[in-house]
Amino acid sequence: MKSKICLLLLSLAALAAQAWEGDVAVETPNNMLILHAREGQDLRMAYYGMRVTDLRQLRDAGADLNSSLLPAFGTVDMVQLPALQVMHADGDLNLELTTTDYTSRTEGDAVLHTFTMRDRLQPVTVRLHLKAYQRVDIIEMWTEIENGEKRPITLKRYDSGHLTLRQGEVWITHMHGNWAAEAEPTQEALTQGVKIIRNTDGARNAHLDAPEVMISLDGRPQELTGRTIGAALCWSGNFELRFNTQSHREHHFYAGIDPQSSEYILDPRQRLETPHLALTFSQEGLSGASRNFHRWARTEGMLHRGMKTGDILLNSWEGLYFDINEERMLRMMDDISSFGGELFVMDDGWFGDKYPRRDDTSSLGDWVVDKRKLPNGLKALTDGASQRGIKFGIWIEPECVNTTSELYERHPEWALQAKGRQLKLGRGGTQLVLDMTNPEVQDFVFGVVDNLLTQNPDIAYIKWDANASIQNFGSTYLPRNRQQNLYVDYHLGLVKTLQRIRQKYPDIVIQDCASGGGRANYGLLPYFDEFWTSDNTDALQRVYIQWGTSLFFPANAMACHINHCPYWNTGGRVVPIKFRCDVAMSGRLGIELQPRDMTDEERQQTTTCVRDYKQLRPIVQTGNVYRLLSPYERRGVASLMYVDDHRRQGVLFVYKVDNYYDQPLPRIRLAGLDADATYTLTEKNVRVGQKPCWLSGKRFTGRTLMEVGIEVPLREDYASRVFVLE
Ligand code: DGJ
Repeated sequence: MKSKICLLLLSLAALAAQAWEGDVAVETPNNMLILHAREGQDLRMAYYGMRVTDLRQLRDAGADLNSSLLPAFGTVDMVQLPALQVMHADGDLNLELTTTDYTSRTEGDAVLHTFTMRDRLQPVTVRLHLKAYQRVDIIEMWTEIENGEKRPITLKRYDSGHLTLRQGEVWITHMHGNWAAEAEPTQEALTQGVKIIRNTDGARNAHLDAPEVMISLDGRPQELTGRTIGAALCWSGNFELRFNTQSHREHHFYAGIDPQSSEYILDPRQRLETPHLALTFSQEGLSGASRNFHRWARTEGMLHRGMKTGDILLNSWEGLYFDINEERMLRMMDDISSFGGELFVMDDGWFGDKYPRRDDTSSLGDWVVDKRKLPNGLKALTDGASQRGIKFGIWIEPECVNTTSELYERHPEWALQAKGRQLKLGRGGTQLVLDMTNPEVQDFVFGVVDNLLTQNPDIAYIKWDANASIQNFGSTYLPRNRQQNLYVDYHLGLVKTLQRIRQKYPDIVIQDCASGGGRANYGLLPYFDEFWTSDNTDALQRVYIQWGTSLFFPANAMACHINHCPYWNTGGRVVPIKFRCDVAMSGRLGIELQPRDMTDEERQQTTTCVRDYKQLRPIVQTGNVYRLLSPYERRGVASLMYVDDHRRQGVLFVYKVDNYYDQPLPRIRLAGLDADATYTLTEKNVRVGQKPCWLSGKRFTGRTLMEVGIEVPLREDYASRVFVLE
């Protein structure tokens, strides 16, 4: 073991002659995490921040935090909380982890560092992994806990990672929300005591509190400046983000699975791998940390969107709800192709034989075509789409079942249920969640996708929904003395099933939907191409929702659809079509309405929007975000922009979010441009019947745009502008 640690030190010394003796530097292009790794001692964190070349200077500057990286109950000092706590088979609650081994190896685009630690007394092994990407500034941290004892042990707490932060004026930005009001950034200074951000939905984890947080080290969070740590727990289940401030010197940040009702039982020789905690450090404020996450998402964190862009689609839900039939589907296909779109998605309502899906009270689980609605099956629809030169997509909700369904009649035991207790029924008064811990259920869920795609190879897109929380805590599959593993094993089962699907169907586009944005997380995005950002498609509220969502997720992950008005979710609000288009254009553009109800003006504007979006799509969907003016600042205007990697092209979005007489609107100062380059502004998606505004066609240097800024004409309610910069 010793030789391995020494070897590491030698190789590091060769890389950076200044390395301290006994230290390991985990490096990305611009970030660095330095650890004290000494055999026989606990692993300690020295530094996390921008790369430094002279490590000795850090120590001389008093910047060595020298704090346990994985504080464990039994050794943790008074001012920390444990990141790990195990109850051994004999009831001992202590863990004294000492480092026994270290390895590092290249894994794709990353270097994987693994530290092995063992308890001094009991045969429990913890491996801490740090995956440092070499092309993006992300380090993933997670652990693997192995039970070497002869009897089961209980993991009472098993965080994925922990960071020590020097006290100062440290603020956090975390996302809070609700169904149809997701991702509202909440900003607060860290003060003494413990702050916990937690989600206990069971099946989804982004409607209420979300598993990501930005930590601003230089006071109140700024978009474009300030040292900022971004942290995302890559997990779709219950989580806990915890801040503990007890001493005047440090804050401690912990992230992991929520151990409430989930004290995990590990059998002898069993290992549990905790979710990855993705971390970034930026000196360019919240937007800088977002850009690092987006870059990583495009290369690693989400499935093969990479630099690929999403299709412009029409989804049938808000236009028809359950009221679908073949004729209406084909008509909607005509509509989306007349707008210039590329994909039609048939949402909920197409299935059920004995129990046809007329509303949300029945049929989940019975994934057979309802021949009353679609007499010629899905073939008529996939053929219809290809005749119109577009693709076809379909909705499913495979993890759920209605009590009124043939599946439930056959397999009531497949639903999660608390033995001997009355079922708590969800949506439609009949919905239950299937038991994804059960391999038979995993096979069934795999089969739902597999059958659809083998029988209909022309399906190009799947919308995978999940409209229920785990309300019935109990599994007929897990033994009575393993029920507490349910919350974790559900998601391990789900991921296993998704991996199987992706092995067989690597190319199909799958949307991750969960009553809107309930599953916008990096636990599932490796298997999905995008998510449904919110069930609220009101364009004004979407400015806010998409703003918060963009803190961690790139534009090509966010499905943003033009809706119909008046809009029921926001009390019948009517928003002009131009504003609705401009808001949807800042993500993956789609349409969510009944085209037959549109006015001529709405049809014309939507066609213009689709045409122009095709031009700016690569910049929006694969560019770098700069959030300029937050709608939450209540300055009357919200603005954000995307810039391509070469800083040659950009797209600017400006939205008027309120309106009153003599309102002082801020000048928009752009960001991320080449100061010395000259850019021409061209207005896009110009309002039908109007000319481009006076800014269109004007040329400016990047310096003028960034330092002086531009006055954007925004007079009326819901005024908005989109400009391309070239
Ligand atoms: C919830 C989704 O978020 C909606 O878009 C829609 O697909 C419905 N479910 C269908 O039941």
